[in-house]
Amino acid sequence: GGPVTVNVANLVAGQILGGDVAWRGQPVYVIKRTPKMLEMLPQMDALVADPKSQNIDQQPKYAQNEHRSLKPDVLVLIGVCTHLGCAPELHSEVKPEPFDPDWKGGFFCPCHKSKYDMAGRVLKSQPAPANLPVPPYHFEGDSLVIGI
Ligand code: FES
Repeated sequence: GGPVTVNVANLVAGQILGGDVAWRGQPVYVIKRTPKMLEMLPQMDALVADPKSQNIDQQPKYAQNEHRSLKPDVLVLIGVCTHLGCAPELHSEVKPEPFDPDWKGGFFCPCHKSKYDMAGRVLKSQPAPANLPVPPYHFEGDSLVIGI
């Protein structure tokens, strides 16, 4: 399919937008991160498998940065676990079992318990081999245009 346009004017910090955004048959997560969520990303660098997003298959070049996004606060991800394709859940506050004191929240895949941080970067030694993919996107005013 072609590009999908989403209005992001009323994004609520800490929540996945809508939940029904899809591009090319895949769920897209749009999340407005809080300043606190952004501040903890550098602290996660030592704990994630690909801190600098060097696997170029997982994001466009403009998202190859600390926050993996164009605008630091707005995260856009394909909501498909890189292990076997389940839907990771947003856990910005509540930590699921098994509890990991180093994990500061992010995405948790219920199928085989892979943990990702708030930039979709997978922690080390998880079943999932790569960071959550970032689709191509750009902004037109208050509209987020996903796809090309
Ligand atoms: Fe996500 Fe296996 S599908 S951990």
